[in-house]
Amino acid sequence: MNILAIESSCDETSAAILTEKEEGVVLLSNVVSSQIDIHKEYGGVVPEVAARAHIENILPVIKKALKDAKMDLNEIDYITPTYGPGLIGSLLVGVETAKSLSISKNIPLIPINHLEGHLYANFIYTARGSRLKAQSMPQFPIVALIVSGGHTILILMKKHLEYEIIGKTRDDAAGEAFDKVAKILGLGYPGGPIISQLAENGNENVYEFPIVDLTKKPYRDKNQFLRYPEPSLDFSFSGLKTALLSKTKTLNLTPKTSEDLAASFQKCIIDNLTQNSLRAIEKHKPKTFILSGGVAANKALRSKLKKEVHRVSPSTAYLVPQISLCTDNAAMIGMAGYYHIKKDPRGTLDFVSVPSLKLS
Ligand code: KG4
Ligand code: ZN
Repeated sequence: MNILAIESSCDETSAAILTEKEEGVVLLSNVVSSQIDIHKEYGGVVPEVAARAHIENILPVIKKALKDAKMDLNEIDYITPTYGPGLIGSLLVGVETAKSLSISKNIPLIPINHLEGHLYANFIYTARGSRLKAQSMPQFPIVALIVSGGHTILILMKKHLEYEIIGKTRDDAAGEAFDKVAKILGLGYPGGPIISQLAENGNENVYEFPIVDLTKKPYRDKNQFLRYPEPSLDFSFSGLKTALLSKTKTLNLTPKTSEDLAASFQKCIIDNLTQNSLRAIEKHKPKTFILSGGVAANKALRSKLKKEVHRVSPSTAYLVPQISLCTDNAAMIGMAGYYHIKKDPRGTLDFVSVPSLKLS
């Protein structure tokens, strides 16, 4: 079985080819064309500009993915495009291209949720064409933390393709907070890589930003017994961004203060993410904890979570995709697609792009 995966939900145009072999799924190619250079000058993604760039890039990217995989379109058995969540103009380009290819070549289409893709990036052990190793595959139950530009969610997975949302952000996503803080500090876009680079030279203890704990206060029940609500797994990052903005107004922004602010801000975000992840692990006792999404590329977050998960629950395996598979790419969409095909190989043309698609 050969899969052509297509991802175009935001500002990366990507296509990947995966093939099923006896020993498992092998990733043959993964081409990512980033639009960062185009959007950088506006300080963020401009939806119309992104859609136009996808239109220009999509066919060359698909052709290159096929060429890298030494495969012809006629050899493709399934096409798996991302159909949401994301920017409507961007999604449309990938979905409509996939539909055109499907109709003209009679190839079944399996639409994929972008967030599922981020989760399934952890099932790709094949990035360099190496064999999928059964023993290093995530074992269920899984607690997963997805941290991206648009989402911050804790998920419980008891089996493939079934998701229970156990925590989420009530306002900004973690990646969004990185991007907004970079803007406040007058640094470019996207903020995550810039802030994390700056943080490496900063002192994280210079500025203290509070960790947000959304756990409800203890209360008395009708018998006047004191009750303690369960620790909250939800996040909130908008106050942190405002606290940093207020701090900058009292400071003379020098390269040194920016480094210290970046380090202190990053520490606060990481501590927040770690606090709730550990709570979720203590409650659900998963066999595997997985980290994914663009912010999972952050080295300080990767190592802090690894250390803390191991400390709190040595029997829980900790997995995170290699850095190139954390930010948006089609390989992860194809991997999620593979499990969908296994469950139900019938394709469909009866779907549209859904910008606010939920994981369910
Ligand atoms: O998953 P992704 O590529 O796109 C979405 O689905 O949103 O995530 C992009 C986000 C951006 O907000 C970007 O600033 C953040 O991931 N990001 C990082 C790092 N690299 C990318 N955040 C923190 N540290 C990084 N090294
Ligand atoms: Zn993403």
